[in-house]
Amino acid sequence: MTSPSTPQRLDDEGLRALGLDPARLPVHVAIIMDGNGRWAVRRGLPRVEGHRAGRAAIRRTVEAAVELGIRVLTLFAFSTENWRRPREEVEALCALYEQVLWEETPELARNGVRVHVIGDRSEFPPSLREAIRYAEESTAGNEVLHLVGALNYGGRAEIVQAARALAAAVCRGELRAEAIGEEELASRLQTYPLPDPDLIIRTAGEKRLSNFLVWQSAYAELHFTDVLWPEFDRQALVEALRDYQGRIRRFGGLDAG
Ligand code: IPE
Ligand code: IPE
Ligand code: MG
Repeated sequence: MTSPSTPQRLDDEGLRALGLDPARLPVHVAIIMDGNGRWAVRRGLPRVEGHRAGRAAIRRTVEAAVELGIRVLTLFAFSTENWRRPREEVEALCALYEQVLWEETPELARNGVRVHVIGDRSEFPPSLREAIRYAEESTAGNEVLHLVGALNYGGRAEIVQAARALAAAVCRGELRAEAIGEEELASRLQTYPLPDPDLIIRTAGEKRLSNFLVWQSAYAELHFTDVLWPEFDRQALVEALRDYQGRIRRFGGLDAG
């Protein structure tokens, strides 16, 4: 299952050969991994087989991110709304993520990947929480790539939790309400201190954010592809990066030059 492979970071020439400008890579790429169910149904398979096939795409994408020199990769794996799915599918997803964390962590650790998990893990079974803790602790010293798994994650829930933390700080007399600005809120989000995503990719043709990184996506570039998540690969990531590099990011100002 875990064939040893050590992704090597491409040099500038290697990046240019792929049509990429090494000086304008996004620092943080975030992906809404969608379309596992459709992939399976199209093959007459149960939906859970789509999630299993999605595992290989996660692996390919993490390796490609290391090769391409991306510093932060966030993967939306389970939303706060996904509990609405049939119990068997939710249980299969939890079991799959638990397995992925146990089996992939040693190689991620060797490759310099640091695993972070955002979202409310307290609602997960203890065995999944244990696998998350193992992955985070065994990769804590790494910095080639920050791999952020969003599990039981919802952007609104994250903002609510930050608002509660701010209110509690005000009640304790540590913070004045008038002193609350964007930085005070942003620093209480689970993604802190990682930078906001430069590029958000969504697979499988839907054009919405589905409660992903609601605060952090304010100035992200969005790339939508019809590719279903189990078929996502390095080529699809490179295409998204080329699309990103064709955009002009104004941040409300005027074009440079
Ligand atoms: C994304 O694939 C994976 C998760 C939400 C966990 P879906 O399961 O949403 O696939 P579709 O949208 O039904 O095809
Ligand atoms: C978003 O996909 C959540 C994840 C990829 C984990 P969904 O398939 O759950 O989103 P909707 O329901 O189509 O908006
Ligand atoms: Mg979906």
